[in-house]
Amino acid sequence: MPDTITITDNRTGKKYEIPVHDGMISATDLRQIKTSEEDFGLGSYDPGFMNTAACTSRVTYIDGDKGILRYRGYPIEELAEKSTYLETAYLVLYGELPTKAQLDDWTYNITHHSILHENIKKFIDGFHHDAHPMSILISTVAALSTFYSEAKNIFDPESRQKQTYRLVAKMPTIAAFAYRHSIGMPFAYPDNDLSYTGNFLNMLFKMTELKYQPHPVLERALDVLFILHADHEQNISTNVMRGIGSAHSDPYCSVAGAAAALYGPLHGGANEQVLRMLNEIGHKDKVPGFIQKVKAGEGRLMGFGHRVYKNYDPRAKIIKKVAYEVFDVKGRNPLLEIALELEKIALEDEYFVKRKLYPNVDFYSGLIYQSMGLPIDMFPVLFAIARTIGWIAHWQEMLLDPEQKNKIARPRQIYKGAQKRPYVPLSQRK
Ligand code: ACO
Repeated sequence: MPDTITITDNRTGKKYEIPVHDGMISATDLRQIKTSEEDFGLGSYDPGFMNTAACTSRVTYIDGDKGILRYRGYPIEELAEKSTYLETAYLVLYGELPTKAQLDDWTYNITHHSILHENIKKFIDGFHHDAHPMSILISTVAALSTFYSEAKNIFDPESRQKQTYRLVAKMPTIAAFAYRHSIGMPFAYPDNDLSYTGNFLNMLFKMTELKYQPHPVLERALDVLFILHADHEQNISTNVMRGIGSAHSDPYCSVAGAAAALYGPLHGGANEQVLRMLNEIGHKDKVPGFIQKVKAGEGRLMGFGHRVYKNYDPRAKIIKKVAYEVFDVKGRNPLLEIALELEKIALEDEYFVKRKLYPNVDFYSGLIYQSMGLPIDMFPVLFAIARTIGWIAHWQEMLLDPEQKNKIARPRQIYKGAQKRPYVPLSQRK
């Protein structure tokens, strides 16, 4: 059987045979379906990209119905158990697990690009004391493009490589500086003896001690969380990264845009909202009343539901386990009781069952971050650090893809506004 579909245009009676590739038709193949020579041709309308593939990708595979997530073919469960964040980041970017020499080189380069230009401290100082750290991160990463003007040479592989090292290395430093600024603490500089997440904890929490020693359980927990957040195929922030990148903007400005999308409460900002929601509920006994309100359309159950997963988010399962490891060190988070009760009731309730709403990655991650001593404001920032490698991998894939290269991401619209009309002078307007 040929891989085609036949479309009959009932407006004209004409038939068209359209090829099917990978279960998709090409939207531009619809353009030949016209009612007249002047007709622009048939298009497809898909607000929110509910059923439209915007690219071909080889980075991440998700089967939302089965709850499967794989980076470059490797199951997320195995990576979370056996890999480290930097090794996974290498895999996400280059497509293969590194050899020992490749990993050493990658780790060396990330470690040796973590210091920020001293001028950056000056403008971080200029932010208001209660500025949201995500806004500081977004602005500061965009400002990096003023320090590395060669970053605009996006088709130079050496330049791309350099900016990749810088972005992956400097995001934790910017994030930690934003946090220290918000609590009025002096900035703590990177320590090259520590791991990626160990050093991040150092920059966040170092006080007067000469050498900061991260707790190994917390360091590993953060590493696992970063692995789980490294990529998630065509989510909104990655889509924004590809969109801005398609205009050939430099990677710092593109990452700033992607991070801005991540900040939204329907995306990476959800982990922050989950904690606010749990605080608002306040007690386990108030959970049924809260669920009733959600069902009545008064707000959403944050940390539940996903555009792609119509099953338990595989990342949420791993995170739940990590949460207990962190609680063993830091004590049980009092909000856990409320979260568990919410999950239990929601998973049994017909409203949530019918709509296939399950806990997503954000439902438990906030509880872990809070137990580690991080303020709620920092949660989306942590997500942004981990996701930076995913954004870069997709940006590079888009730039090098012959089907995408030089094709600016520009959707069409259905225009339903006013038709042509003459300008009305001010004195004649009603
Ligand atoms: N609580 C209550 N009802 C919900 C929720 C929720 N969290 N999520 C979806 N629904 C309901 C909707 O009201 C809708 O019901 P209806 O059919 O009666 O109108 C139905 O489920 C389908 O919802 P949509 O919004 O169409 O689903 P979509 O796939 O577009 O949304 C989204 C996915 C945005 C993640 C949504 O589930 C949501 O808002 N969740 C809460 C925010 C959140 O946790 N975001 C993090 C996602 S993970 C990430 O980005 C890292």
